Amino acid sequence: MKTVEIKPNIFWVGAIDWAIRDFHGYITQRGTTYNNYLIMDENITLIDTVKEDFCDVTLDNIKRITGLEKIKNIVINHIEPDHVGSIDKIMLLCPQATIYISERGKRGLDRYFDTSNWQFKIVKNGDTLSTGTYTLLFIETPMLHWPDSMVTYVKEAKLLISQDAFGQHIASSSRFDDEFVACSSQSELDDAVIDYYANILMPFGQLIKTKIAEIVKLGIEIDMIAPDHGVIWRRNPEKIMQSYLDMANGKANLSVAIIYDTMWHSTEQMTIPLMQGIKDEGVECNALKLRATPMSVAIKEFWKARGSLIGTPTVNNVMFPSIAEFLYHLGGLRPKNRIVGAFGSFGWGGGGVKEAYDMFKKIGLEIFEPGLQLQYRPKEDDKEKCYNFGRDFAKKVKEYHGVVNNQK
Ligand code: FEO
Repeated sequence: MKTVEIKPNIFWVGAIDWAIRDFHGYITQRGTTYNNYLIMDENITLIDTVKEDFCDVTLDNIKRITGLEKIKNIVINHIEPDHVGSIDKIMLLCPQATIYISERGKRGLDRYFDTSNWQFKIVKNGDTLSTGTYTLLFIETPMLHWPDSMVTYVKEAKLLISQDAFGQHIASSSRFDDEFVACSSQSELDDAVIDYYANILMPFGQLIKTKIAEIVKLGIEIDMIAPDHGVIWRRNPEKIMQSYLDMANGKANLSVAIIYDTMWHSTEQMTIPLMQGIKDEGVECNALKLRATPMSVAIKEFWKARGSLIGTPTVNNVMFPSIAEFLYHLGGLRPKNRIVGAFGSFGWGGGGVKEAYDMFKKIGLEIFEPGLQLQYRPKEDDKEKCYNFGRDFAKKVKEYHGVVNNQK
């Protein structure tokens, strides 16, 4: 894909990964991009690199614009290998360049590469670099989402190069949000934003609020946000910042996600009356069987809904393995402002539902108790229990939704 001038003399020189479907375990059904940017100024400056496999793509893009030997500065906003993976090959071709990086970034880079012959300038929050016409302001964003992370603001262009923040895993010929929406849809873009936030940024809500407040306090004007994945926000960039603030504040749909697995369809059969009970209480719901759903999709659906019901059979006195894996993964993401309950079928001893509640407590979720366990296959009177369980849960979800919204 050709380079694109996103601002006067500032070019996207990245790569599109149409084929990736498993991004270190995160299922990227739409592929992704590795965005990096070249500032053609008095001192030519490259911001970020790309994943190692795509090094030749970004090198070709850069060479269409300038010679590598002319690059004076390289800014490394983040050292995760999808952004820094090409730096060693690039440094072989432009050893004259100075790398601008955070202190923790440098320490991490030293672990990935032999950096002994590279020139560095360690930067900290508020430091600037003049490239000639443009002034770069470095804003450290530690733990958003790695300790080294920072973003680069190009003052005269009102451009925030935001590294992973505000990204989406979307492979597209569109470089800008409005182009993508014109050929696809706003809802698809919104879904990609939520998917990315839920799977990558969910643990960092408080930090996100603090950092956005700091950026606002700086009083800088932003009319474009260029992340390192997906499309560039040139139409209302404040909208994506607001979306992040909303999610960090716990925004969710008034809906229920039923996330379940099943051995002989008994737990699955419980979901039918349960969903009717939820629906009859005026709350929308959907159901996902975990073995048929990528983990990252289940995480996204959990995050979108205010309430989730986790359905697990009991196997050898514990949860079904896929449910255990889901809850274990969810715990690491530290979800907030979500209410959960559990249900499931058992054969003789039971225990899966209780174990799910133990996990809910450990994660720190709002809990709807007691859970619902049925032996073997649900019979007619059990279906009524399921219906009532769904209905009672939906009532609780509505109540909790109001509480969270009033807290914002
Ligand atoms: Fe896209 Fe944190 O790497």
